[in-house]
Amino acid sequence: RKIALAYSGGLDTSVILKWLQDTYDAEVVTFTADIGQGEELDSVRPKAQQFGVKEIFIDDLREEFVRDFVFPMFRANALYEGEYLLGTSIARPLIAKRLVEIARQTGCDSISHGATGKGNDQVRFELGAYALWPEVKVIAPWREWDLNSREKLLAYAEKHGIPITKKKGGGSPYSMDANALHISYEGGGLEDPWWCPPDDIWRLTRNPEDAPAEAQIVTIEFDKGDAVAVDGVRGTPFEVLDKLNQLGGLHGIGRLDLVENRYVGIKSRGCYETPGGTILLKAHRAIESLCLDREQAHLKDELMPKYASLVYNGYWWSPERRALQALIDATQERVNGEVRLKLYKGNVYNAGRRSKDSLFDATLSTFEDDRGAYNQKDAEGFIRLNGLRLRTGAKRDQR
Ligand code: ARG
Ligand code: SIN
Repeated sequence: RKIALAYSGGLDTSVILKWLQDTYDAEVVTFTADIGQGEELDSVRPKAQQFGVKEIFIDDLREEFVRDFVFPMFRANALYEGEYLLGTSIARPLIAKRLVEIARQTGCDSISHGATGKGNDQVRFELGAYALWPEVKVIAPWREWDLNSREKLLAYAEKHGIPITKKKGGGSPYSMDANALHISYEGGGLEDPWWCPPDDIWRLTRNPEDAPAEAQIVTIEFDKGDAVAVDGVRGTPFEVLDKLNQLGGLHGIGRLDLVENRYVGIKSRGCYETPGGTILLKAHRAIESLCLDREQAHLKDELMPKYASLVYNGYWWSPERRALQALIDATQERVNGEVRLKLYKGNVYNAGRRSKDSLFDATLSTFEDDRGAYNQKDAEGFIRLNGLRLRTGAKRDQR
C-alpha cells in the first residue's frame, strides 16, 4: 500500500504517520501546505525523514488559497449561521485537491488525514477527494484506532519516539486551525459555552480595549469584486489579505465567539479571529451597494446562506456550488471602485465609496430640485396598485 497523508508536522499527524506505516505496512508520502498559517515549515522535512518518508511535499499555496478559494467565497459575502466567516471550511477543499494530485502523481492508492470522526473537516477532505478522484480510498485513523484520548496519543508518541514539540498551537490548551484567513480555537475550556476565554487566547488581534485610541482610515480598491489594493498599494490576493490582517489585528477587529451546528449533528463552541476577512466583507458589501442592481443584490443575499452551507458542509467541488459561483461571479463584472473605512477599537465603519460603475444617481435621490429627473406623481399609481390587494383584503375583513 502507498498512502498520501496530509501532514502538518504536529503531534497528531506524526502519530498518524507512524501508525499508518505500522498498521498498513504502508509507504507514506507526506504533503504539507503553507496556506498562510504563519508557522515555520522548515522542521517538517526532517521530521518526515525521521520516519523514513522518501517523498515529502511542502507546497506554498498561499496565493492559490486566497485567489481561488477565499476571494471567490467573499464575492458571495458568505457567512455561516450569520456569523462564521468559514476560515477553516474554505481551506479544506484546496488541501484535498493538492493531496489527491500528489497521491496520483506518486502512485498512491489511498489518502489519509488527521481529522476526527466527530467533525466537519473529515467530511470536507473526503467529499473533496471523492469529487476529484472517484476511486480514491480514504483512511481516517481517528475513526479506526483506539487512541481516542490525549493521554493514549501521548503514550503512543512516547513509545515510538515521536517528539512532542512545543510549536504554534502546541502547548495551547485549544484545538487550533490557522491560515491566511483566520485562526480557530475549539476544545479545552471552550467546551463550556458559558466560559469566557482569557484575553491571551487571541493570537492575531489585539484586545479592542488596548487598540489605538485614534481611528485609522483605510481605502480598499476592488476590481470585479476582488480587493486589489489597500491604501493605493496594489498587491497579490495574499498580500492584500495579509495587509488587511495586520490592520485588523492592530485595531482588534474580527473576534467571534460562537456555538455552531456541525454537519454531523453536533453543536460546537468555537472562537475565531478573522481580522482581514471582517474588513473585507464590510468593504465588499459597501462597493456592491453602489454597483449592483437591487434585484441582483437581493438574489445574492437569498442564495448566500445556501452557498455558505455548501462551503461549510464540504461541497466546494459540487456541481451546485460551481453553478452558484458562476451566477455570483457574473454579478461581479461591474463591482469596481474604492471603499473607505474607519477602523476603531474592534469595529469597521463605512466612511465612503466611489465607482466609475456606480448606479447611484444623485439627481434621482436628491432632496433638492431634481429638475424633472423623477416625477413624484408616478409614485401615486405605483403605491395604489401595490396597495390594491391590501385594500381588497382589508375590505373583506371589515365585512
Ligand atoms: N468549527 C470550524 C469549522 O468547522 C473550525 C474547525 C477547526 N478545525 C480544526 N481542525 N481545528 O470550520
Ligand atoms: C476535527 O474534528 O478534526 C476538528 C473539528 C472539525 O472538523 O469540525
